[in-house]
Order: sequence, then structure tokens, then C-alpha cells
Amino acid sequence: MSYDLIVIGTGPGGYVCAIRAAQLGLKTAVVEKRKTHGGTCLNVGCIPSKALLHASHSFEDAADHFAAMGITVSAPTLDLAKMHAFKQEGIDGNTKGVEFLLKKNKIDAFIGTARIAAAGQVEVTGEDGSNQVLATKNIVIATGSDVTRLPGVEIDEKVVVSSTGALDLPAVPKHLVVIGAGVIGLELGSVWRRLGSQVTVVEYLDRILPGMDGEVAKNFQRILGKQGFQFKLGSKVTGVANNGNGATVTVEPAAGGTPETIEADAVLVAIGRVPYTTGLGLESIGVQLDNRGRILTDAHFSTNVTGIYAIGDVIAGPMLAHKAEDEGVAVAEILAGKAGHVNYDVIPSVVYTFPEVASVGKSEEELKAAGIAYNVGKFPFTANGRAKVNHTTDGFVKILADASTDKVLGAHIIGAEAGNLIHEVAVAMEFGASSEDIARTCHAHPTLAEAVKEAAMAVEKRAIHM
Ligand code: FAD
Ligand code: NAI
Repeated sequence: MSYDLIVIGTGPGGYVCAIRAAQLGLKTAVVEKRKTHGGTCLNVGCIPSKALLHASHSFEDAADHFAAMGITVSAPTLDLAKMHAFKQEGIDGNTKGVEFLLKKNKIDAFIGTARIAAAGQVEVTGEDGSNQVLATKNIVIATGSDVTRLPGVEIDEKVVVSSTGALDLPAVPKHLVVIGAGVIGLELGSVWRRLGSQVTVVEYLDRILPGMDGEVAKNFQRILGKQGFQFKLGSKVTGVANNGNGATVTVEPAAGGTPETIEADAVLVAIGRVPYTTGLGLESIGVQLDNRGRILTDAHFSTNVTGIYAIGDVIAGPMLAHKAEDEGVAVAEILAGKAGHVNYDVIPSVVYTFPEVASVGKSEEELKAAGIAYNVGKFPFTANGRAKVNHTTDGFVKILADASTDKVLGAHIIGAEAGNLIHEVAVAMEFGASSEDIARTCHAHPTLAEAVKEAAMAVEKRAIHM
């Protein structure tokens, strides 16, 4: 048996690539070393974290907001084991869904660890040590990423946890110290704060969410502060002493200075992720990596070795599930002789806290650095009818448009449903729209989306409700 394509890894990059390839008539197989498909995202990432964010938000809503709407309930109590079961049900539903889709598309799925023996040859080692070599015309590496370790800090997944352990804590820690004010730290910090933890976030830089628009990050930090988050910015962790039941975290100013210690019941290390290429045999076949360990690819996702391609977290670009998926579709189309393409200027990014934070395109800082003149249109949710009635008025919509052409260059939203609202602007940007195009599109009333329209109108200083 020889395949047209073997995909290594069935995360969002790999399984989507395999399905698209099969749709286009390629004889396709996948190899996955986990027992279930779906990769980091479905097993220990996007899906379980969103299940806990949804459940913990509902818990807090019932405790803090139901009474104001005239709904009297007794104070909610937490059955954490049941909440984890709710999360697991969501994981199972999604991973089984991928298994079904692979079968439906007649894709052969091998469970085992893949090693590339040579271009065109994938060796699969099963858990029982069994070995087989599969022949193929093309290989797509979609092996994803792994947690970045903090030198000298051992992750035992009990007291000192990565995101994987933080999704599975058996009890609510009294004090959770989060190292890193990035997406994972703020999402999982939110989960445990809502369930009762005191949360302290230690961040090396002097801001949260590096890479996000600065004004948005500043406002978001203020909102999180009101919710009870404590931030130690411009600080570095120099040691974590784990005593089995808790840990003493030593922190000092990033620039150096007097250290202090913080007692924690649990410590979440969330300082980024690194590409995962362990055991693939890349060195022996000569596949080049960049200086950050990512597989080097050209614009068509090809490595320097003919017939070997790579996509997703294991190559450059934002480590996001939808970026990996779109690359999976693009490389499958390229292999089938079509013109696969990903527009890296329009990849939305969402932090699924409450309120949510969403962005697409350029930040103000990026436009300034590139010397591009732009106009800003901003509209607060305090002036949006639907947000007012729902009592979800924190946040705003900001649209950035080219000063001479009015073409939309970026959008940044803090607010309830920001993660859904951002897609209107993403579609507009994909079509090369101006802010006036959005402003003149009729938006249903009363919706949160009207704030997007008003922000677009505000680019020309003609918002109606402000
Ligand atoms: P992965 O999903 O990592 O899949 C790679 C697969 O390859 C794995 O299943 C692995 O077992 C397998 N593999 C590795 N080596 C081998 C081998 N040698 N042989 C066989 N199989 C192998 N992104 C979002 O867009 N939205 C979110 O809300 C979001 N939330 C997240 C929350 C958390 C806690 C984390 C950790 C990540 C989150 N992400 C989110 C990021 C997202 O999970 C990744 O960007 C995405 O999973 C990358 O997809 P991928 O296909 O490149 O790799
Ligand atoms: P991140 O890159 O988002 O944030 C890491 C943070 O840690 C940064 O603020 C960084 O300055 C800080 N940091 C680095 N070293 C440090 C140190 N020694 N001490 C203190 N702070 C330090 O990484 P994170 O949160 O681990 O997430 C990993 C990836 O997973 C991200 O790239 C993200 O794209 C993806 N992800 C996406 C989600 C989403 O789309 N909603 C949710 C969760 C993860």
C-alpha cells in the first residue's frame, strides 16, 4: 500500500489537512501518537479550557448577577468533579467527532509514534512496540507544540502545573500563582478565580498580553483587576520551592533588585509554547529548523526536503488552532495541484475571558512602527443598547483604517461576545473593505454588533449614539 499523503499528528492542522486532501481525491493516512484525535486543541487546549470557562462563568453569573435580574437562587455550590466530567464530555464529543470524520472520508488512521525514515517513508511504532513502515508520495508534519519550561522549575502537574495540569486540578487552590500574563495565564487564571482562588499573575514584561494592542491590554488589565486579579508586572520568577502541598515562589524585579517570596497552593507555568519535533528523525533526513526550533518552510509549506511539508504550531506564525486548520487546507490544496493560500494579515485572535478580547489585523503599535498613517474609530459598549440592558457594558470596539484610503487595517474589541463580533471585521478585511463599507451596512437592532458599526462610523467622527 502506498499513500499520496501521510499526515503526522491529528491536531486541528493535521486532521483538517487530511480531510481536505481526501476530499480532493488523495489517498490519505494519518498517524497520531495520542489514543484520541484532535491534538492539543481538543484534548488539553481550546476545548477543555472553553468548557471550564463556560462552566465557571455560569457559576459566577449565578452567584453575582442572577439576583439583579430578579432571579432568586441560593448561593451556588461547586461540584468540581462534576464540572470536570462536563469538560470531559465536551472533549469526548469532539475527539470522537474527528474519528468519525476521518472514517467518513476513508482516511486510514494509525495510532502510534511516527518517525520519518526517509522522504516517502514513515515508520510507525505502536504502544506495544510493534513497527511498520508506510510508503507515501508526500508527508505533512503537523506535530504541534509543547509547554515552554522555566529553567530550574520542575512541573509535577500537581502543585506546579502546566496548562494541562491546570485544566485538571482536583481542588480549588486557595492561592494560585500564574507565571506569564499571556492567553493561557489569563484564561485559566479566570477559571480558578471564578471558582474561588486568589490569583496572582507574575509577568516579566511591564504589560499583559504582549502583541495585543496596547490600549486594549491596559483596559483589560484594569477590568481584570476589578475582578480580583493581582498583577506583578516587570517581575521574574527566580525559584519555585515545591513542598508537595504548595510552593514558595521567589520573585524579583525583571531588571534585578530585592527578591520577595509568595506562598502558593498551586503554580501555573504559562510562559509560552515551543514547537514539538522530538523523535521525528528530522536531523537524520536533513530537515532544517529555524533558530527557535520551528520547521523552516517556504510559502507553499514545503521544507527543504522534497516531499516533506509542515503546518501549524510546529512552523512560524501564531500558535492558534484556526491558523493551523487554514494551513492544513492550503497545503492539501497545493498537493492536489490547486492554489492553496493563507492570508496571514487576517487571522483573528480571541481571549475567551469575560469580557472577551478579540483582535484582527494590525495594532496601533504595529501601524506606528510601520509608519502607516491611520484613523481610529472607537465606540464604548456603555453606549450600546443591548450591552446596557444586559449589564455587560465593559469594553469598546476600536477600528483602525488607512488615513488615505480608509481601508480597514485592524480591529480590537473588548466586550461580551467580542470573539464572535470580530469576524464581521475579518470578513470585511478579507474583501478589502473600507470603514465606510462597514458603517453603511445595515446592522440589526438591538445587537452588540451595532457597536462595530458605530466604531466604523466613528472613524469619520459620525457615530450616532456617542
Ligand atoms: P496540535 O494540536 O498540538 O497537534 C499535534 C498532534 O501531533 C498531537 O496530537 C500529538 O500527539 C501529535 N504528534 C506529535 N508528534 C507525533 C509523532 N511523532 N507521531 C505521531 N503523532 C505525533 N488555540 C486557539 O485557536 N483557540 C483557543 O481557544 C486555544 N486555546 C488553547 C488552550 C490551551 C490550554 C492550549 C495549550 C492551547 C490553546 N490553543 C488555542 C492553541 C491550539 O491548541 C494550538 O494552536 C493547536 O492545537 C495547534 O494545532 P496543531 O495541529 O499544529 O498541533
Ligand atoms: P503567551 O505567549 O501568550 O504568553 C506568555 C507570557 O509569559 C508572555 O506575556 C511573556 O512575556 C511571559 N513570560 C515569558 N517568560 C516569562 C518568565 N520567565 N517570567 C514571567 N513571565 C514570562 O503564552 P501562553 O499563555 O503560554 O500560551 C501559549 C500559546 O497558546 C499562545 O501562543 C497562544 O496563542 C495559544 N493559546 C491560545 C488561546 C486562545 O486563542 N484563546 C488560549 C490559550 C493558548
